[in-house]
Amino acid sequence: MALQSKIRELKEKREKLLLGGGEQAIEKQKALGKRTARERIMSLLDDDSFNEYDLFVEHDARDFDMDKKSLPTDGVIIGTGTIYGAPVAVFAQDFTVAGGSLGLMHSRKITKIMDHALKMRVPLIGINDSGGARIQEGVNSLAGYGEIFFRNTISSGVIPQISVILGPCAGGAVYSPALTDFVFVVDNISKMFITGPEVIKTVLGEEVSMEDLGGARVHSEITGNAHFFASSEEECFDQIKKLITFIPWNNSRKARPFEPAEPLEKFNINKIVPDDPTLPYDVRDVIRAVVDKSDFFEIMELYAKNIVIGFGRMGGKTTGFVANQPLEMAGVLDVDSSDKAARFIRFCDSFNIPIITLVDLPGYMPGVDQEHAGVIRHGAKVLYAYSEATVPKLTVIIRKAYGGGYIAMSSRHLRADFVFAWPAAEIAVMGPEGAANIIFRKEIMSSDDPDGTRRQKIEEYKQKFANPYVAASRGYVDAVIEPSETRKFLLHSLAVSENKMIQLPEKKHGLPPF
Ligand code: HXC
Repeated sequence: MALQSKIRELKEKREKLLLGGGEQAIEKQKALGKRTARERIMSLLDDDSFNEYDLFVEHDARDFDMDKKSLPTDGVIIGTGTIYGAPVAVFAQDFTVAGGSLGLMHSRKITKIMDHALKMRVPLIGINDSGGARIQEGVNSLAGYGEIFFRNTISSGVIPQISVILGPCAGGAVYSPALTDFVFVVDNISKMFITGPEVIKTVLGEEVSMEDLGGARVHSEITGNAHFFASSEEECFDQIKKLITFIPWNNSRKARPFEPAEPLEKFNINKIVPDDPTLPYDVRDVIRAVVDKSDFFEIMELYAKNIVIGFGRMGGKTTGFVANQPLEMAGVLDVDSSDKAARFIRFCDSFNIPIITLVDLPGYMPGVDQEHAGVIRHGAKVLYAYSEATVPKLTVIIRKAYGGGYIAMSSRHLRADFVFAWPAAEIAVMGPEGAANIIFRKEIMSSDDPDGTRRQKIEEYKQKFANPYVAASRGYVDAVIEPSETRKFLLHSLAVSENKMIQLPEKKHGLPPF
């Protein structure tokens, strides 16, 4: 055959495979507001940057009449490409082919691209849309999942791993995302659950919809499995692309720098925090008042809102922010906010991203519910994550820093490199009211005017301890600064910390309070 006809043959073969599960299945996919796997890859990557591999891979299952079935691409597309010029490895499951279910060859395609990603030290993006283990392939499917989970774990902390949930992801299909760094979901499209409604009905006799079981909102607001919520696939892909601009390709690099830029003038740092320490404010405005272009890219916006995490740039360089949010439960640390913060701190530390912590909290959350939910274990994750992190750690105490909250939120004692406090900071074992009631109880009780004595003792305590100067006199706070000096101090400290190097004791690994 002449070369031209061979090329024609290749084109025909390709074209057939590019249709995935066929026009009818594609129509069904579109009717649900979903793009096809191929369209998804194209919307994510730079134009003409996608190199596809293993297009011709086919399954070789025999049981349950599988030998009579052709599954084009075996239900998953793999390849490499770029996002704003950054190299990435990608796979996208094709629900139009056997529901994107994972058989042996399907899993081998995914593990091939995972191996590439790790070897080439580039981020991995997995677009998941799958009914889970391909039932007809039995233990081979389970083996496939095991191979994927192993690679997710080994790659963790070496290359960034991103999961996009764009369909009903069931069974094994959700554990790979759970092992990755960032999970993206889209309203009404994403579903994640271990066992689906039918199994629940059979085993437990309960009726539940897929949405209520594991829809995008459930995972963004309640479980914390998802990190980014979008209302359309388009918005979701924009979020992924933006994230890629903030993170490095691997753990031996830093994120690509941008042109430094000033924050927008409308975020006036002097006017954000109210004079009355009992009044709330949105700590994101403080972040926006210090980051370049006031561009703060928030992560897990809908989950454990009492803590805020995300990326911004300082002088053009990616910086992670962890901030108590006085707008929600006074910014306390509880089970969920501790998990959220600790995980993010570990991501930043793994990928050479300095961390700026903004502190304003009354402490850890008291109460039976929290104690029983394990606030000791979960709260300890924050202590562990900050203590272990060797990236530059900068802390600004805005207002309250009480008790365990003071220690946990990147204090000097957990090896913050620079600790700054605003003049209205209150650094103490507990709030003045609680403290006065305990240590002056006898005097208050025996006084002719208990209320007056209480007020007087509270004021006394405030004068003595509820300020930044006691901590500053011990060197726990490096400088008491005006709010308007914050960006200047942070930029300078980041520049000074650029080549920070410290060595932790050698060990196989520690035991974080998982
Ligand atoms: C083989 C599957 C499949 C699967 C779906 N399909 N899931 N084939 N194995 N796991 C096929 C269907 O037979 C159908 O084929 C096509 O994909 C589309 O599926 P529908 O059911 O028509 O789609 P829809 O109504 O949208 O429902 C999607 C779904 C449902 C909710 C995902 O298919 C479902 O419940 N699937 C099973 C989910 C599940 O329990 N998976 C767990 C597997 S066990 P045709 O030919 O008709 O188009 C597992 C264990 C691993 O994963 C544990 C590791 C830790």
